[in-house]
Amino acid sequence: MAELGEPFACLTCYDATTARWLERAGVPVLLVGDSAAEVILGFNRTIDMPLDLSIALTAAVKRGAPKALVMADMPFMSYQAGEDSAMANAGRYLVEGLADCVKLEVDESFAGLVERMTRAGVPVCAHIGARPSTAALAGGYGSAGRSADEAQRIVADAVAMQQAGAVLILIEAVPPEVTERVLRETSVPVIGIGAGPACHGQILVLQDLVGMTDSPPRFAERSASLGVEFQSAAADWVRRVSLRDIGGQGYEMREGEVDRFYSG
Ligand code: KIV
Repeated sequence: MAELGEPFACLTCYDATTARWLERAGVPVLLVGDSAAEVILGFNRTIDMPLDLSIALTAAVKRGAPKALVMADMPFMSYQAGEDSAMANAGRYLVEGLADCVKLEVDESFAGLVERMTRAGVPVCAHIGARPSTAALAGGYGSAGRSADEAQRIVADAVAMQQAGAVLILIEAVPPEVTERVLRETSVPVIGIGAGPACHGQILVLQDLVGMTDSPPRFAERSASLGVEFQSAAADWVRRVSLRDIGGQGYEMREGEVDRFYSG
């Protein structure tokens, strides 16, 4: 799609049922993000995402959407603690997790690791710009590339990642000028989140898009209000249960069994 100049939509996804619906909707790329730590597990940081669970959820998403490109977000310290363990963990995502590629939050200092993964046959998406897993160091979540020096560093990160073999770049929360320079200086598809409209692909956290998060980021415009829909369906269930009006179809005992049951 990038080659044809057709912008493509990507969304996060963390389970098979939702993946099935997203594939039916024509979403070609699903990311099992470490944002699952927040939207699924209820932590307030992405660094709390457990590796084994992330691998299991990735496989669930691929089973639900076998035709989608499923990208797995390697969690905090699953690739920063050492290259050998990073390689082994990336391998688990492809084999156990059925992932089509892994995503790493990186700067150019990770070029060696990305090169090694690429040599081993692991397709890598390089996540640059704002990197939520470094929030503790940066003093919180936010944007990146708003000064000329930082913008230049991000462009250099993108170029280094492409040279190292990254098959995709994901750029988060940067001004459009930075994205445009990255697009000019690289040739792999670039997926943006809060990075302006020029990217080949665009991604959002699904729960932000469908209106289930209470404080979505400024760039995430809702397409639905499923939170209130869920609330009203659940409230209706509460009301029906209180009235013993549970609906649906029940079961009958087989012929003759009611009499046998009462006389037994
Ligand atoms: O974990 C995630 O959901 C992400 C997106 C914000 C791109 O990395």
